[in-house]
Amino acid sequence: MVQSQHVLVTGAGGDIGTAIVEEFLNDGATVTAVDIKSEGEILSRYSKAHQSKIRPVCLDLCDRDAVNDLIHSGAPLDAVVGNAGVGGTSPFVDIDVAFWQRTLDVNLTANFNLGQVAAKHFIKNKTAGRIVFTGSWVGSVPWPEITAYTVSKAGLEMLAKQMARELAVHGVRVNVVAPGIVRAGLAGELLKTDPVYAKRAGRVVPLGEFQTPKQVADVVKFLCSPAGEYITGTVLLADGGCSLFQFDSALDANK
Ligand SMILES: NC(=O)c1ccc[n+]([C@@H]2O[C@H](COP(=O)([O-])OP(=O)(O)OC[C@H]3O[C@@H](n4cnc5c(N)ncnc54)[C@H](O)[C@@H]3O)[C@@H](O)[C@H]2O)c1
Repeated sequence: MVQSQHVLVTGAGGDIGTAIVEEFLNDGATVTAVDIKSEGEILSRYSKAHQSKIRPVCLDLCDRDAVNDLIHSGAPLDAVVGNAGVGGTSPFVDIDVAFWQRTLDVNLTANFNLGQVAAKHFIKNKTAGRIVFTGSWVGSVPWPEITAYTVSKAGLEMLAKQMARELAVHGVRVNVVAPGIVRAGLAGELLKTDPVYAKRAGRVVPLGEFQTPKQVADVVKFLCSPAGEYITGTVLLADGGCSLFQFDSALDANK
């Protein structure tokens, strides 16, 4: 990152989003920090020293008009990080249609909206902008009882590749960071509240420890930095080796 850059980060009121915003702030960027949480809640996650460099914005990313207004009425952007997401578990046969739809709306369609609006903004401003989406290692590995989530993340990977292919001519780079199991945010909640999930998760990290939000944020920052300028259309797995793991039926049976 070059100082004075302006970055928009979604999910900035959550755990990984906060770490991503902090990485950019530490490099001297200003950040538009978007979340469905209130502006006060978003700001409260950051130190007083950083708050003057943050513009908190409360909106539902499924509201395409609001996203459009935000990006087109704000200061020119250099990078956009689509990080907001929702989770939730359900055995496949019990998945509620409204839950399925909401998961795809937030994790996939809202990022399509964000990516399209951001792309138009970069093209109009002739900016070789960076777009990074937060995917997941389970975007390419099925994990029990999170079908809506895994399908949304798989779709996000192809969305990024399509965008990268079409936007490269404008200099716009589009990538996905695919984290592993973070002991915070969505998985952190499951680790605390769902013993079956915790037992499975505890057995699938070859590096032997859960990920920190900062370890995800470091990769996002790399993809937005000069060192990442030749990377586009990539799913950068930063999962501690989770995806190398071969699932065995004993785990499915919770033995
Ligand atoms: N925690 C993990 O282990 C893990 C692993 C891989 C990927 N991820 C991904 O990382 C991203 C961040 O998740 P997290 O773990 O920090 O969870 P989190 O719940 O702490 O953060 C997600 C944030 O997104 C916001 N959000 C949800 N729906 C929104 C909407 N419609 N509009 C605006 N904001 C909305 C939430 O309010 C929340 O602040 C997600 O995309 C998630 O899928 C997390």
